[in-house]
Amino acid sequence: MTPLYEVIVNKKTTINPIWIMRQAGRYLPEFREIRKENSNFVKLCLNHELSTKITLQPIKRFNLDAAIIFSDILMLPYGLNQKVEFKKDFGPVLGNLDINLMSNINEDDFIEKINPIYKAIKSVSLEMNLKNKNTIGFVGAPWTLLVYMINQKSPKINLKKNFFKDISLIKKILLIIEKFLKIHIKNQVENGANVIQIFDSWAGLLNEKDYFNYIYAPTLNLVNYVKSLNVPVICFPRGIKNYKKFCDEVKPDAINIDYNVDPLAVSKDIKIPIQGGLDPKILLTDKENLKRNILKYLDIFKDHPYVFNLGHGILPNTDLEMVKILTNTVKDY
Ligand code: CP3
Repeated sequence: MTPLYEVIVNKKTTINPIWIMRQAGRYLPEFREIRKENSNFVKLCLNHELSTKITLQPIKRFNLDAAIIFSDILMLPYGLNQKVEFKKDFGPVLGNLDINLMSNINEDDFIEKINPIYKAIKSVSLEMNLKNKNTIGFVGAPWTLLVYMINQKSPKINLKKNFFKDISLIKKILLIIEKFLKIHIKNQVENGANVIQIFDSWAGLLNEKDYFNYIYAPTLNLVNYVKSLNVPVICFPRGIKNYKKFCDEVKPDAINIDYNVDPLAVSKDIKIPIQGGLDPKILLTDKENLKRNILKYLDIFKDHPYVFNLGHGILPNTDLEMVKILTNTVKDY
């Protein structure tokens, strides 16, 4: 049994596996080296040899318990023929959404278009299995994908004016998203992903009255689908007001908390395995402060099934030495 499964499936409290959101990314000089030569991010995600190599980079450097596949949640709209670009110092920019075109996309064309992702998962998982580590596949949650597909860029604080103008269009898009998310998840699992994480990065933008329609219902549907494939599923509804209510409604196998959540309160309220929480900005401070904060989380969750991770992705200007301290402190606890 892998350390991650011991915690998420067997609910063991005596070990603390660790992986880091965005562990395959810009804080690694070896990633920046490859990125320099590959200015098109989408193309890089679709180069299975390079994406395999990038996925394994953090595993070579640090004592991590899982690899998360180097890809992006926006590969789904890309697979649905919406243009997706990543602009330097700006982030993602999406093209116009043509609902008629999108409604006509079939499963085979979608899979064909993003097939290198599955090839990378296959080669990564062969290596992870030998090391008794997990291969984490992921998707964006329906709400967060809807936000990007309609808003056409990161919303930062606000959605486009008139975002909810055409509810029947929104419903149509959500149905397409859900259908292809399942296809995407199934292909990741068939190629060796043995944990799925669902990122709902913009859950915090919604009013609570809209949680049922846009978060709970579509995410529950996906969570049940992942469970039907016999794979554990971790949810990360970033910025949601009430994590306990989310867990009661959606029932994931584990929940990732963000850094604004009070870990002590959550450790009492939520019974399922918990992941993450530490503010990635702590890694930009000093060693003593980092160790103190790591120990705070480990102490609070010492009798709870807990997977160490951050409360959002690791920042590009993080010092590698601090990541070493993080993984070593967790492993030596
Ligand atoms: O975690 C990992 O190491 C696996 C790979 C991964 C990436 N994106 C690679 C990436 C994962 C799991 C994601 C998820 C993702 N992508 C989310 C959910 C998590 C979160 O951050 O809230 C979201 C919202 C996206 C969309 C996205 N992709 C944005 C907003 C950006 C630009 C901002 C940024 O952080 O750079 C990306 C680009 C992106 N995705 C990079 C990486 C390594 C940086 C690309 C680069 O410029 O080199």
